[in-house]
Amino acid sequence: MSTQSTARPVGATDLRARKGGEPIVALTAYLANTAAIADPHCDVLLVGDSLGMVVHGYPSTLPVSLELMILHGSAVVRGARRALVAVDMPFGSYEASPEQAFASASRVMAETGCGAVKLEGGARMAETIAFLVARGIPVMAHVGLTPQAVHTFGGFKTQGRERAQWEAIEADAIAVETAGAFSVVIEGVVEPLAARITETLAIPTIGIGASAACDGQILVMEDMAGLTPRVPRFVKRYGELGTALDEAVRAYADDVRARRFPGEAHVYAPTSE
Ligand code: KIV
Repeated sequence: MSTQSTARPVGATDLRARKGGEPIVALTAYLANTAAIADPHCDVLLVGDSLGMVVHGYPSTLPVSLELMILHGSAVVRGARRALVAVDMPFGSYEASPEQAFASASRVMAETGCGAVKLEGGARMAETIAFLVARGIPVMAHVGLTPQAVHTFGGFKTQGRERAQWEAIEADAIAVETAGAFSVVIEGVVEPLAARITETLAIPTIGIGASAACDGQILVMEDMAGLTPRVPRFVKRYGELGTALDEAVRAYADDVRARRFPGEAHVYAPTSE
């Protein structure tokens, strides 16, 4: 049954139960207004740390702070009604120890009201995932191309092109499932590997640049809606909001310069006369 027909909010356990069922629809959201538009159509709204690059103009996700994630996370929770809101743990806020991760993740949960956190890393993060889950924090994991490790990957490169890389990536996915993650994002891996992981795991896989073989898909909303100038090759554009906004701003500027704005309807008469 589609979670879209249920009125109550989607929880991590609902999402976990979607394995092998209707594909999971996920998008990133950073703001209350766009979250409200996407919410009726999505199962998951991810407040991704990609917001650092997409809306704050950073060259990578590394400068994103916990405070910034909490600010955007609370905005998205205010805009969403039904979708599961998951908030990314930013670089440096969880890797040092399970205790550090709990201190950061509990702030995210308490201060935003979100339903889950997401963190990057496979086997190396398994102990931390188990620690968080045992303390009541639902965790979405993220394996394959993990953007916070861009400097160790040497760029945003598809993972698993070499057959020799498969074993480690699959082991990462199994490790996060064993640790208690309720779902896992698989980013930038070749199709046969994504298919193999999806078949092996009992939790849903959510793909980005990882083929249609996954249990669901996620995209950056601004990428699929045409608001970002350059997008990865795998992104299908479903709109041209950048062009629409450019035209709207241009028309407004033309009106102001030609003194056509504000129109008569918008002239406020003094009230004190
Ligand atoms: O930060 C992000 O937006 C993400 C998704 C693209 C999976 O991690």
